[in-house]
Amino acid sequence: MTPDFLQDWFRKPVRPRVVVLGNQKGGSGKSTTAIHLIFGLMSCGYTVGSVDLDGDQATLTHFIENRKRLAASGNSILGMPEHRLVESSLERSVAGAEEDEAAQVAGAFAELLDQDYIVVDTPGSDTFLSRLGHILADILVTPLNDSFLDLDVLVRIGPDGQTITGPSSYSLAVLDRWGLRMMVGGQPLDWVVTRNRLSHQRTRNRRQMEHLLDRLAPSLGYSLAPGFGERVIYRELFVQGLTVLDLSEPARWRLGNKSHAAARNEVWAFMKSIGLAEESSAGKRRTATG
Ligand SMILES: Nc1ncnc2c1ncn2[C@@H]1O[C@H](COP(=O)(O)OP(=O)(O)OP(=O)(O)O)[C@@H](O)[C@H]1O
Ligand SMILES: [Mg+2]
Repeated sequence: MTPDFLQDWFRKPVRPRVVVLGNQKGGSGKSTTAIHLIFGLMSCGYTVGSVDLDGDQATLTHFIENRKRLAASGNSILGMPEHRLVESSLERSVAGAEEDEAAQVAGAFAELLDQDYIVVDTPGSDTFLSRLGHILADILVTPLNDSFLDLDVLVRIGPDGQTITGPSSYSLAVLDRWGLRMMVGGQPLDWVVTRNRLSHQRTRNRRQMEHLLDRLAPSLGYSLAPGFGERVIYRELFVQGLTVLDLSEPARWRLGNKSHAAARNEVWAFMKSIGLAEESSAGKRRTATG
């Protein structure tokens, strides 16, 4: 799968840096993390394009619509990314559908070429659009629910429930997309795994999970970033089109309490740890070789 546009994209001397949220398990926090990354980058002064490759659920797109409604009602908020939704193709043949979807992605990326960043949300399943998203990722962020059950996203676990028997199909898929990316002229991928919905107690399970993820990182080729805690506020604000970062805006948004401040801090800690939270004075654009 090497649509021509991938080669053209990687050949561009200057282009946005692409951050992709990926994990083939549903409900792991891809869309929640994408939303916070988009507005975190925007509040650092970057221009951001957002692309929703999960046309069936369209969670990110619904969030943007909620936010637009809020803005239309006269509220001054952090701002809006340049958003594009890529819909699943209705073409009957596989080849036709892939061609159609690749053309939509190419069109969206061409329109977002002037942005500093493009943040891409992908579906929780192995679709053509998800594969394309993974090839385009300069940084791939994989949120993982903080549970041993979700370790199977990264590794296969033996019948005893403890022994690691090899990489998971998702880890192998990431390596495969990485290889394809290099073949069409892309730079090496930066793969970041982050635990989501962390319990607030440092339980034995949590420590064991931490230890195991640390141990697996060098062999699978990812780095570990601090994740988001389990907080109702991440869910509650979604319907209003707000993020925890908006809560530090003028007083009318200040629903703030200690937990909200902690949520903001963990979003910044996550962004800093992957090098995305520096202040931008001149709207630095990222290059393919940068
Ligand atoms: N840190 C968190 N604390 C509390 N709730 C969370 C947190 N992260 C995600 N959620 C909630 O969990 C649900 C799934 O999250 P989200 O939609 O971000 O996952 P996803 O990986 O995009 O799912 P899908 O694969 O279905 O697209 C949502 O209701 C979201 O609000
Ligand atoms: Mg989602």
